[in-house]
Formats: sequence, structure tokens, C-alpha cells
Amino acid sequence: KQQGSDFDYEVVAQEGTTQFFDGTQTKTYGYNGNLLGPTVRLKEGETVKVKVRNELNEPTTFHWHGLEIPGSEDGGPQDEIQPGKSKIVTLKADQLAATLWYHPHPHELTSKQVFKGLGGMLYVDGTDQDFANLPKNYGVDDIPLIFQDRIFDEDQQLNYEELMNSDGTIGDVSLVNGTLHPKLTVTQPVMRFRILNGSNARNYTFRLSNGASFTQIASDGGLLNEPVETDELTLSPSERSEILIDFSKLDSDEPVAITDKKGNVLLPFDLDFESKAMKNSTVSWAADEPFLTKEEKDLPVSKEIELFGMMDKVTINGQKFDPNRIDFKQEKDVSEVWEIYNKPDHMGGMIHPFHIHGTQFKIISRDGKGPAPNEQGLKDSVLIEPGERVKLLVTFPEKGIYMYHCHILEHEDNGMMGQVEVY
Ligand code: C2O
Ligand code: CU
Ligand code: CU
Repeated sequence: KQQGSDFDYEVVAQEGTTQFFDGTQTKTYGYNGNLLGPTVRLKEGETVKVKVRNELNEPTTFHWHGLEIPGSEDGGPQDEIQPGKSKIVTLKADQLAATLWYHPHPHELTSKQVFKGLGGMLYVDGTDQDFANLPKNYGVDDIPLIFQDRIFDEDQQLNYEELMNSDGTIGDVSLVNGTLHPKLTVTQPVMRFRILNGSNARNYTFRLSNGASFTQIASDGGLLNEPVETDELTLSPSERSEILIDFSKLDSDEPVAITDKKGNVLLPFDLDFESKAMKNSTVSWAADEPFLTKEEKDLPVSKEIELFGMMDKVTINGQKFDPNRIDFKQEKDVSEVWEIYNKPDHMGGMIHPFHIHGTQFKIISRDGKGPAPNEQGLKDSVLIEPGERVKLLVTFPEKGIYMYHCHILEHEDNGMMGQVEVY
């Protein structure tokens, strides 16, 4: 925090180099450093001023993904900052405690800039959300995990222009918090992990190597209605989830790791905590109200969105992004039902993760079925399978122009994006 200036924090997008492989450096981008960025933390209800500065050699923007702030502060593609320039934005955390993130959003450059390393965690920290005794000691028992796949060229360089795929760049290695071959020493029996899929295009299904279950406690926008016991977690690009793992309940003679669906190790753990004695780690809470009221479930659809295509042929409602076109209008604080349809093509189609700026929405249904327990929480991005129709209850608490788009970053850059004006 900066004293005596007209802002509280400064976030600088800059160039740097990173050593992923022994003895080789590659050019990367980072916020206030060489790769990724510091975790920005706001308290529920708090307002901070952030000076954002672009020290790259190309335009960028600073987008606060998941924060319900006015369109003017949101850092969409309409808000480019030229090289060497800066501005001050006001971030007000007027929403539930949640694990959000920030990343660049310049039109046609987002995928490259994220691939090269721009991105960071953005927490809204709770004040009254501590009822479940959740671990909250940052870096000790409450740890951010940014999963990103990457592909390097034969010189071990992150050469986006050469390696990119216009249908979404998929890597052959995974990084955790920017680290290749990561490992985490667990010092507490019960750990809270805030997981972000920060990949350009890859979907991750996470499991524990020994098949044990864990507890999902939060979705993109805050705690779930009730914690959910599960043995796998799927996140499409930009989705977050918080989980608790009780390591004292696992058979610790066997090494434990977070793996992907195929069993590939993504993050191995080293267990190093004092007592293996059972602590009472059970968290439980239950909301006193149903996740959706009858009125919410019965609201008619008022906005229809059709996602279609692949590669550079991707469209929303048959059109590509046009910065000079407002696609929809919606009144502030008025809930509407958006129905998103992922229209298959002759090849079957592909998953599109659909994201809306400036709102935390609720999933009303998938193909007519109510949301699964682990989707009964606020969301800002949603995985949509080919052929699927998903209804969302969308409310914007602030005004401005907001983007909605596919969060496969190459699809977004290829124009799979539209604008809603909130008045
Ligand atoms: Cu994660 Cu339009 O953003
Ligand atoms: Cu966003
Ligand atoms: Cu897409």
C-alpha cells in the first residue's frame, strides 16, 4: 500500500524473463515482476484506488474478472492503455467474499498476453463469512493455485506467435503458479486451495492421486450454498473453485498429488505436519433459503445467446465482436434470464466457457435440469457443452458497458464477444 499518494496500489504490466528450464531464460510478461502478479486483496465493502501502468511495448488493459464494478473501471477492450501510459481505477468490493482474478483484455492481444504470463489473483476477503472455520492464513493453509498449460518451442521459449492455435492454444505441460514441476509442502492437516484455471483453452478435471474425496466450498463468486463432498472438480478456462483437503484423513504413506483426469501429476504434495491426530475438520453449513426462489426459476428468458463455430469462424448470434455495436441493453439491478445455447456443428462442436463481466450470476438450469450442488453458488463463467442450453439469472449492480464472451482466449480474440449496456 502506497502512503501519501493518490492511489493505494500500483499494478504495472511489464516485460521480463523467466527460467522454466535449467539454464534457459525465455521472455515473459508479468505484473510488478517477471511472471503473473501479486495477489490483490480487497476487504468486503472496501474501496481502493489502483494505479495501472503499461510498461509493455503494446497496448493492454487491466480487467478485474468477477468484480462487480462500473463498466468504466472494468478494463474491457474499450479501455486500452497505450505503452508508457497509466490511469487510476477505483475498485469497490461490493460483493461476497470470493476468489477472483485479473488479467489483460486488449482486443486481439488477450490470448498472447495471458499466455506470456499476465494474470493474478484478486481476493475479496470476507468479514462475516468466517462461520465455517475456514482456513484463512494466506500461504500457510490458504493457498492460491493457478493452473495453466503451456507449450514451449524447441529452444524452450514461450513463442506464442509460432505455437498458438486459433482454436485455443493447448500446452503439453502444466504450470502451477508459473512453476514447471511444482511441489507443495503441506504444513497443516486441513488445507484450503483457491484454484483458478488460468489456461487459454484447456479444461481441467482435477482429482487426488489416491482417489480420495475432498470438499468443494466455493465457486467463482463466493461460498456455495452448502459444501459439497466430491472426488473430482472440473474447471473450464477462467473458472475458480475453492476446495478443502483434509490430509490427516488420507493414508499418508502413499504420496498424494493433484492429478488431471488421466492421472498425470499436476501438483505433488509433501506432507509435513505435526500431528496426524484427527482434528475436527468437518465444515458444514446450509443456507436457510433455497438457492433459487420459485419466482427466479419461473422468470421467462429475455436474452438469447447462440455460441457457434470454431477456429476463426467463431460467432455469437451469428456476429463477431464490433466495438461500435451494443448487442443488448439491461437495466441495472433488474434480473433477467439469459439463455446460452452452444450450437453444435457438423463436427459435433466444442465446449465454450461463457463469461459475463460486471456480474455474479446464478445458473438456473442446464437443459432444463436445476444446477448440481457444486454449481449452487455465484458464478461469472460457465462451461457449456456442445448442444447444451444453459439458463442464467443475470443481475448487474452497476452501470456501464460490459463484455460477454467465450473465455477460450483465442475465440475471444477472434471476435466471440459481445457488449451489453447496463443503464
Ligand atoms: Cu476473464 Cu472478459 O474476461
Ligand atoms: Cu471478465
Ligand atoms: Cu469458444
